[in-house]
Amino acid sequence: MKSVLSTKIGIVGGGQLGKMMIQEAKKMGFWVAILDPEPLCAAHSLVDEHIVAGLKDRDAIIKLSEICDIVTYEIEHINVDALFEVERAGKPVYPSPASLKVIQNKYTQKQTLLDKGVPVPEFLPVSSADDILAAGEKFGYPMMLKACLGGYDGRGNFLVKSAAQAKEGFDALGGATGPLMIEKFVDFTIEISVLACRGRDGQIAVYPVGQNNHKNEVLDETRVPAPISEKTRASAMDVARSVMEIFEGVGIFCVEMFVLKDETVSVNEIAPRPHNSGHYSIEGCVTSQFANHIRAVAGLPLGETRLVKPAVMRNILGEPGYDGPANPQGAENVLAIPGAALHVYGKHETRAKRKMGHITIVADTLEEAVTRGQQAFDGFKMLSTTGSD
Ligand SMILES: Nc1ncnc2c1ncn2[C@@H]1O[C@H](COP(=O)(O)OP(=O)(O)O)[C@@H](O)[C@H]1O
Ligand SMILES: [Mg+2]
Repeated sequence: MKSVLSTKIGIVGGGQLGKMMIQEAKKMGFWVAILDPEPLCAAHSLVDEHIVAGLKDRDAIIKLSEICDIVTYEIEHINVDALFEVERAGKPVYPSPASLKVIQNKYTQKQTLLDKGVPVPEFLPVSSADDILAAGEKFGYPMMLKACLGGYDGRGNFLVKSAAQAKEGFDALGGATGPLMIEKFVDFTIEISVLACRGRDGQIAVYPVGQNNHKNEVLDETRVPAPISEKTRASAMDVARSVMEIFEGVGIFCVEMFVLKDETVSVNEIAPRPHNSGHYSIEGCVTSQFANHIRAVAGLPLGETRLVKPAVMRNILGEPGYDGPANPQGAENVLAIPGAALHVYGKHETRAKRKMGHITIVADTLEEAVTRGQQAFDGFKMLSTTGSD
């Protein structure tokens, strides 16, 4: 009988999320290929095959599917039509291209959630600056204007503070070239996220709730468990479970949510892939988001998602003023801290604000993990060999 472990896995994208998926796949001996435009991408040194091509390159995605038994992806901004073709040719793609197509577009994603009764902030489609003014009448200011396609780390969002900024926002996000939407500004108490994984057989595993703190709209820190009531925790986990059922997602999804003043939750967005806010699960949980993703797409039983110890994840971004070949400094400081794990993605070039690595601290209490996380963060800098040092 053919071993399930002989399944050849193809991943579209070879960044840090792909790398961490492959690290888990390799523990179980899977053969893995990636498609990524950068020859020296984060995952390149771990793979059996690397197709060097763009993430939207139809022919390259078909080629990847031909050398693999299943296809998955680490990023949602890819050629979904090519994935439909792969599926029609009889090769499984997880999560399904149908779910990816809906989720890729923030408007269709929110509309689907709304139709299924999942709480989301109020939103409207935008195709002109006048639509923004009309939304302002309804929602009041400020409002969050968003590009429906391709946004990440806040790039693709514009805070419209007053009617006077309607045209500026429309032009800034390229309203004439791509679809936009606008949301009522949510006066949230904290942001949280919940990872959930669904197997090919429909079994669902939901992770503990994490609190996400952003700096300049980029994730800076995740703290787990999130400081929320039991009721909020239960409803956040229920929402994550519903999302998996609505999209029939196979693999790991992340559901970002706002906690409102009345302690209810509202979904901000969904990622149909492992997520930065789930990195804590590598050291913090019995089974990491990456391990469960590989189990799910390979058709294996899912692992336990329980938190082993309170955990804090801090992102390492490229230090401003140091663009060039990466020169990470301070590993000694980080690793001298009890419970600290250092992840450096191995990207050759660092740039200001680029995600270059992360640190996870596990400790007996969350307070201890937060303090040590700050110490570790302060002791590490992603500089460059050509920097101003
Ligand atoms: N409607 C909103 N109200 C208030 N803050 C928002 C709203 N939408 C987004 N944000 C803030 O902007 C951040 C990034 O927005 P998000 O839609 O998640 O974009 P991205 O795809 O770049 O992650 C969110 O994590 C949140 O802090
Ligand atoms: Mg987001």
